[in-house]
Amino acid sequence: MLGLEGLVVAETRLSSVDGEKGELVVCGLSLEQLAARNFEEAFHTLLDTSVELASLRCQVFPKLRLILPLLTGDREPSAALRLGLASLPSNISAEELVAAFPLLLAGARHGSNLQAPDPKLSQVEDFMRLFFGERQAADRVRALNTYLVTVSEHGMNASTFACRVVASTGAKPLESALAGLAALSGPLHGGAPGPVLDLLDELREVDDREVHLREKLRRGERLMGFGHRIYRRRDPRAEVLQGAVQSLRPSAELRFAQQVEVLAQKVLQDWKPDRPLKTNVEFYTALLLHELGFERSWFTALFAMGRVMGWMAHFQEQRALGKLMRPQSRYIGALPQGAKL
Ligand code: ACO
Repeated sequence: MLGLEGLVVAETRLSSVDGEKGELVVCGLSLEQLAARNFEEAFHTLLDTSVELASLRCQVFPKLRLILPLLTGDREPSAALRLGLASLPSNISAEELVAAFPLLLAGARHGSNLQAPDPKLSQVEDFMRLFFGERQAADRVRALNTYLVTVSEHGMNASTFACRVVASTGAKPLESALAGLAALSGPLHGGAPGPVLDLLDELREVDDREVHLREKLRRGERLMGFGHRIYRRRDPRAEVLQGAVQSLRPSAELRFAQQVEVLAQKVLQDWKPDRPLKTNVEFYTALLLHELGFERSWFTALFAMGRVMGWMAHFQEQRALGKLMRPQSRYIGALPQGAKL
């Protein structure tokens, strides 16, 4: 089964992705219910804990001091996040790791000038204050909160699977999270929102957008922000994030993106009539994060800041199971002379 499509590798209480209906359930909540909660509530639900994230942020902050000066410079934000994460004490807990991500991201921007966390603020509000250098309006905090919670957990996706494989070896939360982060480095999982904006920029410059999209497909290019391994009818996260973008400001850019979405759907439908390629979470992620003022190079690291909650919940589940993941492969290479399989 190439690509492990359709293969069940674990039983989980964390989430269920129904590709046919286009529905996501997380710990007994529909995605729409989960997305209405704040980051702290999602954290308590997913990691089944009552520990306060704000106090964990304050606890973790002193552990970052030595590494902060090394995080800035020419490094891409995702690379800085990997470096920062790898430098944390190896015995850091799953809960502390979730609290560390906003500090690492803001640290990747400000290095040793990073201000101390404020325990009176929520995780998302504090992150935005640290990142942008001042407190942000409530609607902006709400929009980022919706994004981070929406992407926090999503079945056995590639990065979660990577985390669980590493967790199954008895590794610690830190190594498991590093595996998840590494799995986000390719463009097919978590890396599409930047290229979504590139596609929109490209389309602004051309006269006949439909012809342009068709030519891209003929050249073998993929339209970023469309298609999903599981969702065939709709990606419910795309709809939630579309609502979050609209709540910020119904801008001309949003209207343009919606026109492109309709056009891309039409072109993809003609291109692959038997394979529904619907708008995925990354299309509206791109618009939302752009509207909030994040440069596209930060998008993957921001995704990780939400997804780390799911990774750590799966880490706990896998460790409780205590079973090494060890699938098999079918050998199709050369045999020693005279040997038969
Ligand atoms: N544009 C054009 N063609 C596409 C697209 C697309 N966005 N997506 C799939 N196809 C085509 C493929 O070229 C392939 O055609 P072929 O059979 O002629 O080779 C066919 O549809 C099946 O593609 P696969 O990659 O085998 O399907 P899979 O289920 O593995 O793909 C994926 C899922 C990787 C998301 C794919 O749709 C894609 O590359 N989309 C663009 C990148 C993207 O938006 N990624 C973000 C996903 S959401 C997330 O990671 C959180």
